[in-house]
Amino acid sequence: MKNNQSSKNGFISGIGFILAAAGSAVGLGNLWAFPYKTSANGGAAFVLVYIICVALVGSIAMISEIYLGKRAQANPVTAYKKIKRPLGFIGIVVILIPTLITCYYCVLGGWTLRYAVNSFQSIPSANNAVTFAPFVSNVFEPLFYTVIFLILAALIIMGGIKDGIEKSSKILMPALFIILIFIVIYCLCLGDGVKGGLEFYLKPDFSALGFSGIIAAMGQAFFSLSLGMGAMIAYGSYTGENIKVGKSAVMICIFDTLVAFLAGLAIFPAISALSPENLGANAQGPGLIYQILPKVFDKMGGIGQVLSFAFFSMVIIAALTSVISILEVSVQFISQKFKTNRKKTTLIMAIVCGLCSIPITWSVGGAYGGKIVVFGFDLLTFLDEIANTVLMPVGAFFACFSIGWLIDKKPTVNPMKTLNALKNDGLDLGAFSKIFVIMVKFVTPLLILLVEIMGVIGKLQSYGNIYWSIIITSLLLIAICVIVFFAFFYKKDCGTNADEIN
Ligand code: TRP
Repeated sequence: MKNNQSSKNGFISGIGFILAAAGSAVGLGNLWAFPYKTSANGGAAFVLVYIICVALVGSIAMISEIYLGKRAQANPVTAYKKIKRPLGFIGIVVILIPTLITCYYCVLGGWTLRYAVNSFQSIPSANNAVTFAPFVSNVFEPLFYTVIFLILAALIIMGGIKDGIEKSSKILMPALFIILIFIVIYCLCLGDGVKGGLEFYLKPDFSALGFSGIIAAMGQAFFSLSLGMGAMIAYGSYTGENIKVGKSAVMICIFDTLVAFLAGLAIFPAISALSPENLGANAQGPGLIYQILPKVFDKMGGIGQVLSFAFFSMVIIAALTSVISILEVSVQFISQKFKTNRKKTTLIMAIVCGLCSIPITWSVGGAYGGKIVVFGFDLLTFLDEIANTVLMPVGAFFACFSIGWLIDKKPTVNPMKTLNALKNDGLDLGAFSKIFVIMVKFVTPLLILLVEIMGVIGKLQSYGNIYWSIIITSLLLIAICVIVFFAFFYKKDCGTNADEIN
């Protein structure tokens, strides 16, 4: 195992790595999806199940992915090839997924940017019909903000791991946390009205949870922790001997969960205090942060403008540090495989994703009368379902399966033998080693399969037969990855971190 590159182009400090990985994990999933999913699934009961999922399943997959990268000191394709050569195709899948996500994540990032910029404009009445719809359905304005957002992300990636990603995360993540704490305190002090929100968010109602809520919690945990998409493999590959995999993974999981929980603790009390009619079913989907919160800020008067700016700046930071990590996955692979310069590769990938984001912006915003749809879905939902419901569990499964079953050259069901194999390979988790091995070998992969199967069945029920278009497209994408891998990458060297030229 070569771990000496970390000084050349890798994270310098443990805390730098943790903050960067936490930056990837903390995103729209925490500030927006977690709160509304909690409220849709029985409040505190969901939070409880979520925490158990993160602790038992998410952290195990997190350790597996970081370690996969660390042991290979290379991009996901090489990392999987180093486990078993044919598995390299999974590397291609987990590079393709984040690239697809980048194309729509930067659209949402762009919206956020516009909301931050517009915080200080006094809107006649922060009414959806006046603000949200005309903005997102505009042909050029959302594109403009999307491009700015993408440029910001590209500039950071061009700086490389230690001077770009690590440095920016060390500033941005603490800033995000401070803003969040400030907002939570302010929102909790909004008077008696906050009680309804707190009750709504925190009072457990196990009847509203159900089996589907448990599956939703598990899916949300994977999404929120950025698992199954190569991001943690890529970041993990830039860590050296000085970084402890187990400890870092636990810190990342704690930070991510804390941010998600605090976001809800600010949002729901604020809604119940100032705009109680919007509590409940309304507070779901994009509406929560792009439509309802602006109304809430508007009702706060002058301070609301400051708070709105702080809130959306925080969301921008969260989205930016996430988009950096997803774009990095393809930049890393291309620059290592084709020995291209990091700056040029970043520029090209940013342009490609920027071009792909154009139809997505129009589709999700409803420009051109909402006519840009595929199989009945807007493009954002279409890609999001492919990436997060269908393909993401595939990536997470193979990460755990590889660590649990394939590190040992002689396949065995005996966890003690696997434990030894892992120790010899360099993964030592101290007192937790035994639990880890049993989880990663038996429990976590099975739970991931359950998320995959139940997730897809649930979607088929809620969307009906049109959901088959998503399943079939996903299978086609996997088939393409397999063909491309065996045709072009199977026999050839796919590069490592040492091959990067800066
Ligand atoms: N975890 C991010 C969030 O909570 C989003 C995300 C999902 C992501 N998968 C990812 C980010 C992969 C980077 C890489 O919003």
